[in-house]
Amino acid sequence: MSELVKFSRSVAGHTVIVTGAASGMGRAEARLFAAEGARVAVTDVNEDGARAVADEIEAAGKSAVAWKLDVADRNDVERVVAEIVAEFGGVDVLVNNAGIAGFELLEAEAYEDLWERTLRVNLTGEMRMIRACLPHLHRSAAGRIINIASTEGLGATAHNSAYVAAKHGVVGLTRALAVELGRGNITVNCVCPGPIVTGMTEVIPDEAKEKFARRRVPARRYGDPEEVAHAVLSLALPASSFINGVALPVDGGLLVQNT
Ligand code: NAI
Repeated sequence: MSELVKFSRSVAGHTVIVTGAASGMGRAEARLFAAEGARVAVTDVNEDGARAVADEIEAAGKSAVAWKLDVADRNDVERVVAEIVAEFGGVDVLVNNAGIAGFELLEAEAYEDLWERTLRVNLTGEMRMIRACLPHLHRSAAGRIINIASTEGLGATAHNSAYVAAKHGVVGLTRALAVELGRGNITVNCVCPGPIVTGMTEVIPDEAKEKFARRRVPARRYGDPEEVAHAVLSLALPASSFINGVALPVDGGLLVQNT
């Protein structure tokens, strides 16, 4: 049998930007890409956290540089992407991972603030990162945009409407740009994690996590950040060049369980 070698399954030497990389899934994504030989820009609004992850990667003999980057700040986004390009010479993969969560009743006074903040970070931030990276992704032989949405981008939980709206927006942005950019070397996909053990979910007591998982998740557990990172890596491979515009649940089966 002849070998299947037309498409590469390696991101070695590729430049990868991960936002929100100081914690949870972003940290796992940064570490996994670095382990695969990519040069990783570890970015986060939490500067010390980003530096700690970059140090962790460097200590393992892999390549990473940390940047403080608030995706809600347009100037920050444009400046930091330019600095990353100056350091690494381009951008091959953008992982739009940074996100915040918050529950509020629609009727509450604080709802408007939560709405503004959530949309600015979770949706506008992803759009701005894509706009800043686009000229560089066009120059890559295998440009990849991977947006982190959520199962809340495909379904909904009560009292979570700002987050749900933002994550549905991420799915919509992904699909629109997959169509718009589909003729070139760039693919645009999103990953929709279910409940994952990260900083975002650490406020949920273990007992509540277990109860939710038993009731709602066929896998009967929360996911590990690394399980999401592997899905992101798969979409980033040069060999994934014909996967475009998907919203991939990584949720232990949550979205397909009826009862
Ligand atoms: P996390 O809280 O552990 O990590 C989020 C990171 O984003 C933090 O390091 C934080 O400092 C950073 N961040 C927050 N605002 C930022 C900003 N304006 N600019 C740059 N960085 C910022 O949370 P987790 O769970 O790892 O979240 C990663 C992504 O996964 C988010 O987009 C989240 O909405 C999404 N998600 C999380 C799920 C979960 O169960 N944990 C489920 C589905 C989606």
